[in-house]
Amino acid sequence: MNGDWIPCPNTGLAYREVDPADPALDNIDCGSEPEAREVADYLRERRWRLLADDWRPRCLQFGTDGAIVGYVTILVRRKHPHPTKEHSAKRRYLLVGQLLVERPFQSMRDPKGHAKYAEEIVGVLIEIAKQENCVGLCLDVRPSNHRALRFWARLGFQEDTPYHSEKMGGEMFSRRLIF
Ligand SMILES: CC(C)(COP(=O)(O)OP(=O)(O)OC[C@H]1O[C@@H](n2cnc3c(N)ncnc32)[C@H](O)[C@@H]1OP(=O)(O)O)[C@@H](O)C(=O)NCCC(=O)NCCS
Repeated sequence: MNGDWIPCPNTGLAYREVDPADPALDNIDCGSEPEAREVADYLRERRWRLLADDWRPRCLQFGTDGAIVGYVTILVRRKHPHPTKEHSAKRRYLLVGQLLVERPFQSMRDPKGHAKYAEEIVGVLIEIAKQENCVGLCLDVRPSNHRALRFWARLGFQEDTPYHSEKMGGEMFSRRLIF
């Protein structure tokens, strides 16, 4: 069941836990690039639901009054290396798994808000992370995803150690934002 929409203060957005039965998931379109298709396929195939309990993220759906704007999967990692991936100390982070903005809303400013839609969604994630007592946000991105890399850089996410991921089948760039 879809939950109630939670308004995002000072924006035209609201969010809720996604209902896996929502047909909107079947119509996701966040771009034709391979990296964008990969993210869309993950959501369309409801792959987050297949993960084991400890690794199963929340999947949030963002929308305006009349349209779905985007999705994100998030998971609190209680013991994430801090302050870099190579460090032995561990802190609590909010892991951003998959973020996407539907194509019509990409690079679009929210007329009822203060920024582009994608940035507002990250603003909500920062608030959720703070409520969860996390020290920051962390995520991985493909080196070929230039648009996403530019986006995270503009929002102040710092580069971390690149690494080879067997699961993702190649090199990944890590990014983190420490509050
Ligand atoms: C990543 C994503 C959420 C960002 O949302 P967005 O609305 O596109 O973000 P913004 O417009 O604020 O920022 C993107 C930046 O990349 C730039 N850009 C657009 N296409 C680009 C390209 N092909 N190469 C490099 N930069 C590009 C934009 O001009 C913008 O630059 P700016 O910060 O100087 O304005 C969205 O593009 C998306 O859903 N992509 C597909 C899914 C995906 O890749 N998710 C991320 C996984 S880590």
